[in-house]
Amino acid sequence: MQLIDGKAVAATIKKEIAEAVEARVSQGHRRPHLAAVLVGHDGGSETYVAHKIKACEECGFKSSLIRFESTPEAPLSEEELLKTIDKLNNDPDVDGFIVQLPLPRHIDEQKVIEAILPEKDVDGFHPSNVGRQSIGLPCFHSATPAGIVELLRRYGISTRGKNVVIIGRSNIVGKPLAAMLMQKGDPGDATVTVCHSATPDLGEVTRRADILVCATGRPASVTADMVKDGATVIDVGTTRVPDASKKSGWRLCGDVDFEAVAPKCSFITPVPGGVGPMTIVSLMLNTLQAAQAR
Ligand code: GUN
Repeated sequence: MQLIDGKAVAATIKKEIAEAVEARVSQGHRRPHLAAVLVGHDGGSETYVAHKIKACEECGFKSSLIRFESTPEAPLSEEELLKTIDKLNNDPDVDGFIVQLPLPRHIDEQKVIEAILPEKDVDGFHPSNVGRQSIGLPCFHSATPAGIVELLRRYGISTRGKNVVIIGRSNIVGKPLAAMLMQKGDPGDATVTVCHSATPDLGEVTRRADILVCATGRPASVTADMVKDGATVIDVGTTRVPDASKKSGWRLCGDVDFEAVAPKCSFITPVPGGVGPMTIVSLMLNTLQAAQAR
């Protein structure tokens, strides 16, 4: 069994990005500028956005954090958020921006996503980017699937002719990853099955996977009996579970029962330190691409 070290690969890619940025700056270009919009105080979102801002520093990018308070008593209006998006769309100093999800329930997430200019949509969530991706046109790819594909590529794990099973059909991970891996080419050329909450006998499907991607957010729900000997297992889950031994009172838990599953695998990603750091690095790559395109 070989551990896929996403943290190490991400560090290498951040160095590559930083070098590309310094080369651009020495040619007289501005530093790439990523803006992040954060509404409220969701614990996970606070952590993710802090990691994104830190990654910007490591890559030599400029970053801006736009924070909004929103409480049930004083909710942020959708109108105000849309106004901010309009400003960012029209700000020539901003190359790309993200609105961290989830948003408070009174705000229409899809409306917000569609308000972002596709050329600045470095999350790759706008229908224009999603549609272009599904037919193999240049676009911003959703960060988590792009990170997974890059990990497979850097570890020399071919997807060509392989059975890939993805558990989870989210717009952010499952669907875009399926589209990327069924595309012509390598990475690509895989036979992809997407499982979800209505899939009967999940284990019967997952046991056929050469590459199994787990993206449901259900901690430790993928057990050893669901995994074929020699499979590659990619764990996208990052759920906070109570852990009295930690100062914070919680630890991150993946979707895979790691201790039981790892001995059966040829390759497996740990949580933390697997897919997570690659997601952030993909966002940095998209931002660099946005800056280069402008
Ligand atoms: N929430 C969870 N993952 C993501 C992400 O990749 N981008 C944004 N904007 N919000 C998220």
